[in-house]
Amino acid sequence: MHALEQALGVHSYRAVAVTRAGARVAVLQLEPAGQTALCYRAGQYVTVELNDGTLRAYSPATGMQADGRLELHVQLYTGGRFSQRVKQGAQALGLLKVRGPFGQCVWPDSFDQAEQAILLATGTGIAPIRAMVTDALTAGKGKDIRVYWGVPSRDDLYLHDEFAALERRYLQFHFIPVLSREIPGDKRYVQHIASAQHTSLAHAWVVACGKPAMVSAAAKLLGERNGLPASQFCADSFSASDALPLAAAGASKAAGIPTLTVNVTRPDSQFSEPVRVRADGTLMQALRDVQLVEGVCNGQQSCGTCRLTLPKTWFEALPQATRSEARLLRALPGAGAHDRLACQIALSPDLEGLQVLLTESPRLTLGTGEYPC
Ligand SMILES: Cc1cc2nc3c(=O)[nH]c(=O)nc-3n(C[C@H](O)[C@H](O)[C@H](O)COP(=O)(O)OP(=O)(O)OC[C@H]3O[C@@H](n4cnc5c(N)ncnc54)[C@H](O)[C@@H]3O)c2cc1C
Ligand code: FES
Repeated sequence: MHALEQALGVHSYRAVAVTRAGARVAVLQLEPAGQTALCYRAGQYVTVELNDGTLRAYSPATGMQADGRLELHVQLYTGGRFSQRVKQGAQALGLLKVRGPFGQCVWPDSFDQAEQAILLATGTGIAPIRAMVTDALTAGKGKDIRVYWGVPSRDDLYLHDEFAALERRYLQFHFIPVLSREIPGDKRYVQHIASAQHTSLAHAWVVACGKPAMVSAAAKLLGERNGLPASQFCADSFSASDALPLAAAGASKAAGIPTLTVNVTRPDSQFSEPVRVRADGTLMQALRDVQLVEGVCNGQQSCGTCRLTLPKTWFEALPQATRSEARLLRALPGAGAHDRLACQIALSPDLEGLQVLLTESPRLTLGTGEYPC
């Protein structure tokens, strides 16, 4: 591992065990292979890169461990590139590059004694929630903590016994499994059950992790029906890496899709290079296609890896950043006045000649000093 990679938050890890947790999930244990371990807070996520360059995001299922180990819960998709390698076992995974932490979905200090903390998960979305809840209960946080976990059937509740034991031990903790395929015709998901069980969520803190469809439906439903303020909702949407695939610009031109030239200056260069991209989708997608930005969270405004700087004239020509974009930019170390997230810039042919200055992908530093590494 090079010094530069370490400075950029890349750590070397070794896969030491893969165990199955039901038919569709594997638990992957990683241990630091170098001198440093990655520092994170329960609820944040990391990226894991295989030796063939496949890069995927995963959310550790425990809080920071003293020996730096990472426990990841991996949903196994048929034909999935990461899934396939995990199925082959720890040895096939070998050494991995792990980077992070990313994401701001962590237990907020202001909610240490929140009236209600509602945590919604689908599938392996339970991993970061398990990390947050276990840390919170051990630290005596929260008056009423409710985990709603949606899975297709009872067999998929691979952490059932662990959560049931926590429920017996901590009076303030409640575990509500939601099985979507057990009752024919019942189309209620975690967000519907949580919404029905609470008249108002105006003073609650709500977390949603897992399927993008659940995350967006929960934000809408709980906001509209239960008065949940947007500032008290945080989420990690487990979007697929190919969620919004874009063809290369050459193919787009052939297919009649408009293209445009973006002039890109890399962090280590004084010169810009013209990059021809298709003029639909976002700037992040276009630059990710040509491997100029990572776009780890697929545009969910949680990773910051698509941050770039614009010249003043271009900055002023674009629509202003929304509050959520501005909030993430403020949280990123070293963010400047003309920085934007490329995932929030919609491309169109009028942006012909757009100039951007790439930044080193920043890591979110959420008080890293207080963690044991
Ligand atoms: C912030 C963040 C955190 C994440 N944390 C976790 C985690 O803790 N655990 C975990 O299991 N995953 C997590 N993911 C998703 C993970 O990064 C991968 O996208 C997923 O595991 C699939 O990788 P793969 O290489 O096996 O499949 P791919 O090769 O990426 O895809 C194979 C096939 O499966 C489909 N597919 C992939 N992902 C999904 C999906 N989410 N829903 C439906 N179809 C899909 C693809 O469309 C494709 O057809 C997270 C994603 C993000 C953005
Ligand atoms: S892709 Fe993650 S913030 Fe833009």
